[in-house]
Amino acid sequence: MASPFTSTLTLVSVLVISLFASSSGNQFISAIGDPGMKSQNIRVSFEAWNFCNEVGKEAPGMGSPRMADCADLYCPLIADSLGNHLHGHTNECEVHQKVAKSDNLLAAGDKFPDSHFKPYTDPDLFAVEKELYLGSLCEVDSSNDPWQFWTVMLKNGNFDTKTSLCPENGKKVSPIVTDRKFPCFGEGCMNQPLVYHNWSKVFSSDQSSSLVGSFYGTYDLDADLSKGIGSNSYFSVSWNKNKKTCSWVFSHKLVTSAKYPWLMLYLRSDATKGFNGGYHYEGRGIMKKLPESPNFKVQLTLDIKEGGGPNSQFYLMDIGSCWKNNGEPCDGDAETDVTRYSEMIINPETTSWCRPNNLVSCPPYHISLSGEKIYRNETSRFPYSAYHLYCGPGNGAYLEKPVDICDPYSNPQAQELVQILPHAEWAVHGYPAKKGDGWIGDSRTWTLDVGALSSRLFFYQDPGTQPAKRVWTSLNVGTEIYVSQTGQTAEWTVSDFDVLLSETGDSV
Ligand SMILES: *[C@@H]1O[C@H](CO)[C@@H](O)[C@H](O)[C@H]1NC(C)=O
Ligand SMILES: *[C@@H]1O[C@H](CO)[C@@H](O)[C@H](O)[C@H]1NC(C)=O
Repeated sequence: MASPFTSTLTLVSVLVISLFASSSGNQFISAIGDPGMKSQNIRVSFEAWNFCNEVGKEAPGMGSPRMADCADLYCPLIADSLGNHLHGHTNECEVHQKVAKSDNLLAAGDKFPDSHFKPYTDPDLFAVEKELYLGSLCEVDSSNDPWQFWTVMLKNGNFDTKTSLCPENGKKVSPIVTDRKFPCFGEGCMNQPLVYHNWSKVFSSDQSSSLVGSFYGTYDLDADLSKGIGSNSYFSVSWNKNKKTCSWVFSHKLVTSAKYPWLMLYLRSDATKGFNGGYHYEGRGIMKKLPESPNFKVQLTLDIKEGGGPNSQFYLMDIGSCWKNNGEPCDGDAETDVTRYSEMIINPETTSWCRPNNLVSCPPYHISLSGEKIYRNETSRFPYSAYHLYCGPGNGAYLEKPVDICDPYSNPQAQELVQILPHAEWAVHGYPAKKGDGWIGDSRTWTLDVGALSSRLFFYQDPGTQPAKRVWTSLNVGTEIYVSQTGQTAEWTVSDFDVLLSETGDSV
């Protein structure tokens, strides 16, 4: 909105919005740089990942697949005769871009305008450095707790086992020998996308002004999007302001194609420093403080307009972190670090693979609300339909059998996945209770007790080790359209996003 706040006023209003007392008397504070997405300035970055969350090879003419749109809105202040500030004429508002086109075009080997950042020729290493560089341009230094941007993540699920681009459970292997089937149309199937950018600009209507902009593109390198999407793959993320709530509204669209049948598009709330979920390098983001189970909640509004077909694993939410099997935090050693994900899939067409006659897809036990362990072989009590699937980390030495090992190639290191479904077991934490809740036509504002839920999930550790601190570095919303034979389309918006940490002990 065009409200001509000075930066001090914005800071004060942010504190007021994000500090409130719950009925239980606990104080909550926002963990993120843009609580509730209310900032009038935009901070958004774009990253594209290949199958193992790297770059591999850059797309021709596109630079390294890390971009940002960071812009401040300036509207003139006009004082009346009593000295009160009135809204300026909205058509006088200006946009100040923090990132230049030349920054977004930086490609592996290019020198950065700031010599602190190293011009690696390896496209994987360069992308990491470029994210840090873009972060330095976008950084908002609020009371020495700087934050950079929301992150849009796009991932291509094609995997060419004839390349040596991805390690196996974090170990370099060549050649890759596996029975697993992956989509790949042939050489070059792991390519990075063509990405186009509508830079944030001032949009004025009814006495108010705000910024609008977008990133969009396709994986089909021969596509001409000016002629429409056709049968090509497509993605877009655009941002504009909801005039009533003042929240950013991020509108997403994702379309798969015959050549790109498995695509992922998430809006991520990533840590402002350290390793983000699924990544083994320093990253940038919007979470100034890291949420730790069980003491945090996530608020957001999700409006799904099109689901993406039967294999669309729509995540409300996907949470990611990393810790070793001995419970220690990750340190970047890909052979012993383990990415941990938990995802609630809200597509009502997603079924439970975890069943009494298929215990291999269940975690060894369920933890009830009261903290009781219910083993998966207790068929009368285990809530099978609360789980889509569980798979264990490939480097877990003492996994309880039977167990499925998670895909060893789709992350830079071994991974563990707990995929859950809408169920009364989770609804007590504000999550969907049954299939269809929150799905198409059922837009809702959720307050998810992600902290409480995630403290009730089984994650593997070696016997006798100290339980890991469950500190989450990425909280994501979006869809993974898993291998789909026909082109599928998903469309949704996310707004009002906030991460609230409860300050127990300080309760009033
Ligand atoms: C980008 O801008 C063009 C020109 O204004 C517009 O036609 C197009 O819809 C925009 N794309 C997205 C994804 O917002
Ligand atoms: C069920 O599983 C637990 C843990 O693996 C095991 O100790 C127990 O013997 C099993 N019970 C039955 C009836 O198989």
